[in-house]
Amino acid sequence: MKTKVITIISIICSLSLSAVAVAQDDALLERGTYLMEGILACENCHTPKDPETHAEIRSMAFAGANVLSDEAHTPYAPNITMDVETGIGSWTDEEIITAMRDGLRPDGTIIGPPMPSPGFYATMSDNDVRAVVAYLRTVEPVNNVVPKSTYNFPLPPNYGPKVESVAEPDRSDPIAYGKYVTESLGHCGACHTPLGEGGLDFSRHNAGGQVFANLFGFNMTAVSLNITPHPTAGIGEWTDEEIKRAITKGISRDGRELAKVMAFSYYDKINDEDLDAMVAYLRALPPIQ
Ligand code: HEC
Ligand code: HEC
Repeated sequence: MKTKVITIISIICSLSLSAVAVAQDDALLERGTYLMEGILACENCHTPKDPETHAEIRSMAFAGANVLSDEAHTPYAPNITMDVETGIGSWTDEEIITAMRDGLRPDGTIIGPPMPSPGFYATMSDNDVRAVVAYLRTVEPVNNVVPKSTYNFPLPPNYGPKVESVAEPDRSDPIAYGKYVTESLGHCGACHTPLGEGGLDFSRHNAGGQVFANLFGFNMTAVSLNITPHPTAGIGEWTDEEIKRAITKGISRDGRELAKVMAFSYYDKINDEDLDAMVAYLRALPPIQ
């Protein structure tokens, strides 16, 4: 009798524990979906685009693509679908997280630019990198071999000490949270900061001027613009709505349609809390002429 009661209690306990685990997995995938179909926009680089419409080819989601091509480099974003042969299907969760944050593959080789690991994804929280992995595990495997990137400059052996653990951002401080959304997730500065000697020139953080040649395998060239709050050179005089419209709809203050370099169709899914925080952070940046 006694053992029966204990067995029943332990069954109830383990059932409710697994219900908690399932609820946690659901929450992680929900967060991963929000990030991956929105602000992270990995697909802007990792999914090939239709030459006519410039929209991502859905049947090739995450299957790898040419990002751009100039004298310095021709980077290809690899296949990151769950295909075991040509993608990252055999990588462990930890290996995927190390690739994102530290820019290192399981064999220890370095992942080159413009994969935005150093300074950007390196500071993604533990929960958010796990959410990304949860989403990637649901991506259809696509068998697709992508050419190797070429770099006409030396890559460093690594981007610094291994990232061990990153706490959740403090959502009660709009500027600190905005920094997390803008830098760690949105990696806006990876495009909006000009190149200097040996990488991004952070003394002109977000001041624009980076040139992108032959983007996405098309004959399309674009230059990033100044998104610091400088009154004339930047977005200092723009209203919040104008800034948000540029980010999510690709329309500049004067109504001009922006070149499809930024991932507007993904940024369009950023929620109001995150957009507000992003605007608060951009307004707090030092204005740069
Ligand atoms: C701005 C373009 C860009 C964005 C955005 C981007 N990546 Fe990458 N990624 C690259 C490039 C380019 C490489 C390969 C660089 C090289 O060849 O050394 C790469 C490499 C990788 C690799 C290593 C794969 C391998 O087989 O070597 C992984 C994993 C990866 N990216 C995951 C992601 C995830 C997840 C996201 C979104 C959170 C993302 N990337 C966003 C450009 C990008
Ligand atoms: C893949 C590179 C890339 C990323 C990432 C990126 N941008 Fe841009 N952005 C550009 C380029 C290039 C332009 C200019 C396009 C043009 O002039 O047609 C631009 C234009 C803009 C503009 C309009 C400026 C103006 O004067 O019209 C704003 C605002 C902006 N970006 C904000 C952001 C924010 C905020 C983020 C991060 C969430 C971001 N961008 C991420 C490349 C990028």
